[in-house]
Formats: sequence, structure tokens, C-alpha cells
Amino acid sequence: MELALSLLTLLYADLRFNYEEILDAFFKRLIRVLLLILGFLMYPFVHLRAFKKQKKCPPINNEILLLSATELARRIRRKELSSEQVVMSYIKRCKEVNVIINAIVDERFDDAIVDARKVDKFLLTTIKSEIELNNEMPLLGVPVTVKESIAVKGMSHSSGLKIKNPIISDFDSDVILRVKKAGGIPLLVSNTPEMCMCWETYNNVTGTTWNPYNTNKTAGGSSGGEAALLASAASVVSISSDIGGSARLPALFCGVFGHKPTPEYISTHGHMPTCDDSSWSSFFSIGPMVRYSEDLTMMLKVLCQSDKFDASHLDQKVELSDIKFYYMESDKSPSTNTVDIEIINGIQRFIKHMESARGIKVQKADIKEMKYAFETSSSMLLQLNGVDTIYKKGSNPREWKSVFLEVIKYISFMSPHTFPNIAYGVLKKFVDTLPDGYNKWINDKNNLIKKRFQDLLGENGVLIYPGFTTAAHYPYEIYSKVADVSYMMIFNSIGLPVTQCPLGLNKDGLPIGFQVVGNVGKDHLTIAVAREIERAFGGWQEPPSDLKTV
Ligand SMILES: *[C@@H]1O[C@H](CO)[C@@H](O)[C@H](O)[C@H]1NC(C)=O
Ligand SMILES: *[C@@H]1O[C@H](CO)[C@@H](O)[C@H](O)[C@H]1NC(C)=O
Repeated sequence: MELALSLLTLLYADLRFNYEEILDAFFKRLIRVLLLILGFLMYPFVHLRAFKKQKKCPPINNEILLLSATELARRIRRKELSSEQVVMSYIKRCKEVNVIINAIVDERFDDAIVDARKVDKFLLTTIKSEIELNNEMPLLGVPVTVKESIAVKGMSHSSGLKIKNPIISDFDSDVILRVKKAGGIPLLVSNTPEMCMCWETYNNVTGTTWNPYNTNKTAGGSSGGEAALLASAASVVSISSDIGGSARLPALFCGVFGHKPTPEYISTHGHMPTCDDSSWSSFFSIGPMVRYSEDLTMMLKVLCQSDKFDASHLDQKVELSDIKFYYMESDKSPSTNTVDIEIINGIQRFIKHMESARGIKVQKADIKEMKYAFETSSSMLLQLNGVDTIYKKGSNPREWKSVFLEVIKYISFMSPHTFPNIAYGVLKKFVDTLPDGYNKWINDKNNLIKKRFQDLLGENGVLIYPGFTTAAHYPYEIYSKVADVSYMMIFNSIGLPVTQCPLGLNKDGLPIGFQVVGNVGKDHLTIAVAREIERAFGGWQEPPSDLKTV
């Protein structure tokens, strides 16, 4: 009897397993078909943008704008350049490109000049040595730009939310305090989609941020303002944030470096939106985006919560020959689009470079479970409770307004909010109704993927992996490619550090790139590889410029 019962349980467990697999396989294909239909329906509207007159940024004719932050700080310390000169150069550049890319939400240009003069005065009188200054204030006199969702005292901090009384922050977030302590000078806050809830940058307060390489395309999101400023040489280092690729997709679309650090390396205090779910801190990070890979380590050290852990390993010299290199070209999921051939070729070019120039073999990896990346990462993101959203009733993010009413308002053109924010509520309610069994299945798959990565990467492995399936696209195209964001989002749900690296431009003149993924705490490895990729492919490249506008 007992035997029969346990056999029955086994059989049932097996059936249930298969049933979930079959259902999942069905849903994968259903999602693909729905997204294809959506893409097809949207095609004519989306591509109308191609007929808009394209504007270009003016050429960069100031040397200062082409120096890394590390180099700027060095020259400022040595009094070869004044901080005032550097800050003024960036202000001028911001003004000339912003009319074209529309990235700035709020600025403190006048205050920044005052700060810069203080730095120059301090340097005239300080008795500290150059080395001491570098150790204590590695960013001394260098302008820094910040995503609007990160609180900077006195600056707009509404995250693109259309509200009667826009929020002006009365405090500095932890990261900004650290930037200031390191001598950095915040210059401005830049555009994000409403509540950072999209992979493109549009909100009803500032509008759309355009891509400097083709101003009829999106800069990506949610850190789109920052990426567009970096790419057009109107910023050199940026403070951004990442919940599902927000610091990596814009970096890819705009051809700069974006780093999503190991969870909890960097304080997320002072970010809007925030969340009180205990899993939030493993999903969400604040991190740097930079134009020159040299600045990644410096920025990470500046931003790290040094009281929580020892950041000294970030400085460790890394030998490329000690790193085990792996690559994967796709997730092999039926839900996602095929990765663009030029991105695949970029990965292949890097593999050849490593073999011929360094004698290092890049091995093919095959984590089969990556085909679940879309389901796991999107469900896990939607499982987070207490995210600060447009549905918040009072001050408690867990008390929601009626989703139904907001949807009705939206479809009758009476909502002040953007589509992704409305959609979040609907999807969240849907995910909340899913049975516990399904959620457990998802969590198990996620843990399995995490385990596979831990086993593969170990102490010294990195994985080269696409960051997305295409280069920059037209606004709204993200909806038909929404499954493809799992190429980035999976590393939020398994909590690994990633550096998005540029590989130069494709045949349309748009930046392409790929991600370098490391194990927990191995940010210094992904950054060391980013530096090699910059050496091999030239890193950031100047966007096309229009001589007539000078
Ligand atoms: C808009 O971008 C496309 C590239 O996708 C380009 O071919 C086109 O010329 C641009 N539009 C204009 C009017 O320049
Ligand atoms: C905000 O929405 C209104 C109404 O739809 C529209 O007229 C206006 O142009 C929008 N503003 C921006 C900056 O997108």
C-alpha cells in the first residue's frame, strides 16, 4: 500500500514537472507570436520617425572633453588644468548638445563653477602631496553627471513623474555624498523614463532623449539621459542605476561602458523609485557609466560602501592570462529575437583577438537553462512587493489605487502616466494571481541558473554574452522586443556583476557591444576585460557631427 502511494506521488510529481515544462514551452512560443504581431502592427508608425529631419551634434573641438576623468583629475591636481576650465568646457558642451539630444532635466552650472573655483583655490594652498590627494580625492575638480532618479540636493528628483509640485531633493543620496567627498562636482541631473520604468527614455515632463549617433532613434533607458550625454562628450563619468539593464542597454545603444556592480557594493539610498522588499537590494544597483574604461575602477571605488566591505581588491592588478574566458552567443529561447549578426561577429572578433594577440582561448559555454531567462527574470522582478509606483495611494507603497481605474483613465486619454507604468500594475496583478507552485518552479529555475553560473565562472571566469539583440531602435520598438531585455535582466535576478562594453559602430553607424559577466564580487575581472576590449576595439567613438551647426 505504502509503496503504491509513494509510486503515485512520484508519478504525480513527474507529471506535474512535465506539465509545467509543457506549459512553459507553449507560453514561450505564444509570447513570441504575440510580440511578432505587435511588431508588425507597430512597424509603419514606429518607422515614420525615419522621415523626420535628423539633427547632429556639433563636432568636439575642445581637447579637454577627450580626456578620461582619471586624467582630468591628475592634470587638475598638478595644476596643469584648472577645475574651472574643465567644468566650463563641459557646461559649454552640455548647452550645445542638449538642444539636439534633450537629456538634461535640471542643472547647477553656476554652483558648479563656484565649486570648481574652490577646488582651484584649495590646490594653491594645500600641503597635501599629489599621491595623498589622489588617494583621498580621486575625483577632485572633475564634473559628474547624475540620473534624475538619484537624489542630488537642490536638484529635481521626480524621476520623470508628472506631478503638480515637482520634487526638489533636500538631501544628497549616499552615492552623491561619496562623489562630493572624493572631490567630484555634480553638474546636472538627466532624463529617465517615468519612474525609470522603461528601456527607452521618454516622460511627459522632459520628453524623449535622442541617440547622438542617430537622433531619430532612442538613447535606450532607463539611464538614457546619462548615456546620451556621455556619448556626445557632454559628460565624462556618470552615476546611473540598473534594475533590468537600465545602466547597460543605454550604454550599448550609445557606445559607452556601463557597469552593474555586485549587489550591495553600492548604497542605493536616495533612489526613486525605491522598494521595501528584502530581495530589492540583490536586484537593483546604482553603478557608474563612463566613456573611458580607465574610469570604471576609480568610480567603483568612490561609490563603494567602504564600511561594509573591503574595496581594495578592486585595485588588484589582473593578468588576463589568469582569467578563464567563456562565451555564449544566444539564450536559445523561443521567446527572444535572434541576436543581430553584427553583434555575433563582434563576439567572434573578440575571440580571434584574444587568441591572436594574447594567446588566450575563449571557450564556448552552454548554459541550457538560459532559455528560461525571460520567464525567471521577469517573474522575479514582478514578484517584488512594495515597489514605489504610480499606484501608491499614500506613503505606503503596498497600498494601491485601483489598477482597473488607472487603465480606464489611460485608455480614455485622462491619465498623466506613461504606458509602461500602467502596464506594470496590470502585470503585477497578474503575477500575484499565479499559483505558488509556478512561483516555486520559477525560483528553482532561477537558482539553477545561478548555480550553473557559479560553477562555470568559479574564482576567475568571465562570460562574454550579448547585452541585447540589436543596436538602437526607434522609440516604442522596445515593446515588440521586450522579451530580449532578459539578456540583461537575468543578471539582476541572479545577482552577478556585469560590464557592458562598446565594440565600435555597425554598418548603420550605430554602436554595438556585449556584456562581460563575472561571479559575485568579481567586478575587477569584468573591468579588466572591459579595458582589453577598449584596447582591441577603440572604445567610445565620436558620434557623427554636423559642421553647419557650429
Ligand atoms: C533616420 O534614421 C535613419 C536610419 O535608421 C536614416 O536612414 C534616416 O536618414 C534618418 N532620417 C533622416 C531624415 O535623416
Ligand atoms: C505631455 O502630454 C500632453 C498631453 O498628451 C502633450 O500635449 C505634451 O506635449 C506632452 N509633453 C511632453 C514633454 O511630452
